[in-house]
Amino acid sequence: MAIYLNGQFMPIEDAKISVLDRGFIFGDGVYEVIPVYSRSAFRLEEHLRRLQHSLDGIKLANPHSRAEWAAIINQLIERNTGEDQYLYLHITRGVAKRDHAFPKPPVAPTVFMMSSPLPTPPDNLLRSGIACITAQDNRWLRCDIKSIALLPNVLLRQMAVEADCTETILIRREPGTGGEFLTEGAASNIFVVKNGILLAPPKDNLMLPGITYDVILEIAATNNIPHEVRRIAVAEVHAADELLLTSSTKEVLAITQLDGKPVGGGKPGAMFAKLHKLYQDFKRDVMRSR
Ligand code: PDD
Repeated sequence: MAIYLNGQFMPIEDAKISVLDRGFIFGDGVYEVIPVYSRSAFRLEEHLRRLQHSLDGIKLANPHSRAEWAAIINQLIERNTGEDQYLYLHITRGVAKRDHAFPKPPVAPTVFMMSSPLPTPPDNLLRSGIACITAQDNRWLRCDIKSIALLPNVLLRQMAVEADCTETILIRREPGTGGEFLTEGAASNIFVVKNGILLAPPKDNLMLPGITYDVILEIAATNNIPHEVRRIAVAEVHAADELLLTSSTKEVLAITQLDGKPVGGGKPGAMFAKLHKLYQDFKRDVMRSR
């Protein structure tokens, strides 16, 4: 497997990073996960725009222009096998003596990228759907930044694994009112379906603005699927006809069990079937137009 590290391509075994890297010491960095279909990066502009938003959020200068990123990404795809891959791109504030404050003058950031095979969700998972649990969203208030400091997400997702589930759906308690509402999954976005309407939580500081989330809403708009973007109360999650999960690596999946109870009829529903097919068509059309 060829990886990219600070200007060079090399086998992963040869990649070395200082123990003083601020990513290692503080989790001081941001990342992206970009799916590649038919050896072409999917929604590259949108991923690079979100990367810029994350970099701005942590006050780290973007080390590359859009054209430089595209060139590195295309070379990495070429150096790895497989038609479908997913790229992991990671930038930290670099190597410096341990001090919480930014290094002065700034040091060169660490830029790392690797590619892994991207298996599309297997048929049995598409047919059965997945089981999830809910948990309190105990993360910080800048979940819109795709930070590499993922300890809360790691612990929340592990709760799902220990409950024999696929994902943990996060519920945020509003200080003051005590109201509880849906934010997202530990590593995914979540949609609710009620009475034929697709409901999505608003993109704010409490969730990651998912690239797949945007594609699903675009598909809903162009196909006249009724949809609303608004805050979703926890009671609506539990009373949903369908629940859907989206991410770059999982595409769109039906959640058929929540906290041990069936969601709607306990089987992937009509909205899932429709959106899954439209998502596959969308991907195919994008790739064909290249
Ligand atoms: N995670 N919310 C969180 C907290 C995520 O970590 C992710 C993706 C998403 C979905 O975003 P997108 O559709 O752009 O993949 C939402 C990636 C896949 C990961 O960390 O591996």
